[in-house]
Amino acid sequence: MKLQTDFSKIMNSQLFHVLKNTVEELSVEAFVIGGFVRDFILKRKQKKDLDIVVLGSGIDLAKALQIKLPGAKPVQIFKTYGTAMIHWEGLDIEFVGARKESYLPESRNPKVTPGSLSDDQNRRDFTINTLAISLNHSNFGAFIDPFNGLEDLKNKILRTPLDPNVTFSDDPLRMLRAIRFSNQLNFTIEARSLQAISKNRSRMNIISMERIVDELHKILVTPKPSIGFTLLEKTGLLKFILPELIALKGVEEIEGQSHKDNFYHTLEVVDNLCPNSDNLWLRWAALLHDIGKAETKKFKHSAGWTFHNHEFVGAKMVYKIFKRLKMPLNEKMKFVQKMVLMSSRPIVIAEEQVTDSAVRRLVFDAGSEIEDLITLCEADITTKNHQLFKRYHNNFKLVREKIIKVEEKDHLRNFQPPVSGEVIMQFFGLYPCREIGIIKEAIKEAILDGEIPNKNEAAFERMKEEGKRLGLTPHEKSI
Ligand code: CTP
Repeated sequence: MKLQTDFSKIMNSQLFHVLKNTVEELSVEAFVIGGFVRDFILKRKQKKDLDIVVLGSGIDLAKALQIKLPGAKPVQIFKTYGTAMIHWEGLDIEFVGARKESYLPESRNPKVTPGSLSDDQNRRDFTINTLAISLNHSNFGAFIDPFNGLEDLKNKILRTPLDPNVTFSDDPLRMLRAIRFSNQLNFTIEARSLQAISKNRSRMNIISMERIVDELHKILVTPKPSIGFTLLEKTGLLKFILPELIALKGVEEIEGQSHKDNFYHTLEVVDNLCPNSDNLWLRWAALLHDIGKAETKKFKHSAGWTFHNHEFVGAKMVYKIFKRLKMPLNEKMKFVQKMVLMSSRPIVIAEEQVTDSAVRRLVFDAGSEIEDLITLCEADITTKNHQLFKRYHNNFKLVREKIIKVEEKDHLRNFQPPVSGEVIMQFFGLYPCREIGIIKEAIKEAILDGEIPNKNEAAFERMKEEGKRLGLTPHEKSI
């Protein structure tokens, strides 16, 4: 890809013009730095935040600029960090005084002292994130690249400006950022930096779960998350995040029979899903769909390798994992659990004959999530046997067609019993008792088996028959 190094387009904009004047008035020096410059050069979708580093007070510059930008929101000041932010025309403009940082081993929060531009560039994570553009009158628009970051952008390399052991040990979140950027931008992590990640992996312990999950989500929304997860595993970081995934790794063989490597299979499923769904939570479901397999793995002479009940065990693990990662224990988690729990159901149908009643039951149990479930299960087809691959996919086409037909006919997706408990009680003159449940269940089963349509009259007739079978007689008023 050709890089974009002509900055005149942004330098001539209203914002940069006002910035230049304000910087001059305050007699400070200031530079645009970091992700904004990187993404501009890479011609990526322009970021919504613009970082400005100031040799002087970032807060003062923010205040002076805010007055001059029509419609700018009031300056937000973060005293602890000495930073300030203005929201203007959908852009978050962040101001920070150039600083020198020194870190204590037990914390990600550095001791900060004022510094020069090069001190500030030194303390950043990757050379491609140290790129700066001058906002000063004397050299407005000049490109300042002391670490050859532009060269690294060209060569698609992630490299730390300082010794990577210093950069990563100072702020271990950068190890995750390295892997995330590598995945997002399709860049290679330079060998020394990669080794330093492995070496400093235990520093993961001081990163908050929220930051870890943030990076994990950025990996999961890329078109090929397996790149990130493979790097997380190889560097040893995954152990600190999702050790349950590592437990899926490896192939065992007994009596000449082996099972697949469920770690790599899982990553393949996640990748397969990506072109067909942007839903982050469905991607989580793909990542965890086989998570119960390590715990349930058994070898039986008669059956070979089995993972009996792994979906149930897996669904329970989803809760524990979400809790540990401090992710929301809300309907998103329940969705992931449901997908994991049901993840083998459609495959069983697709492997055998696609019968109407199996599809009806599937639609009934999956409800409004049926499409997501089928999309997940199609991604789960990773067999390298072409004939089988084709057959499973064709069967899924059949399953999809049948789902549409079943839905048109009986609306099973959001099933409501066509005959209520009240009606049954009234008809047979009953007080609440177990017979009511039995009748309701019989009606539901008859509908799911396709014996009767999901219609009031048919269900009412079935209710009468079922009541008779149970020895009930209609209440006088019902005759
Ligand atoms: N930075 C850093 N170490 C971190 C986080 C950020 O050195 N742990 C620096 C980098 O120079 C980065 C800049 O701060 O470019 C802004 O950080 P942020 O907005 O979080 O990241 P971006 O690089 O802009 O990219 P993204 O939004 O994709 O995270």
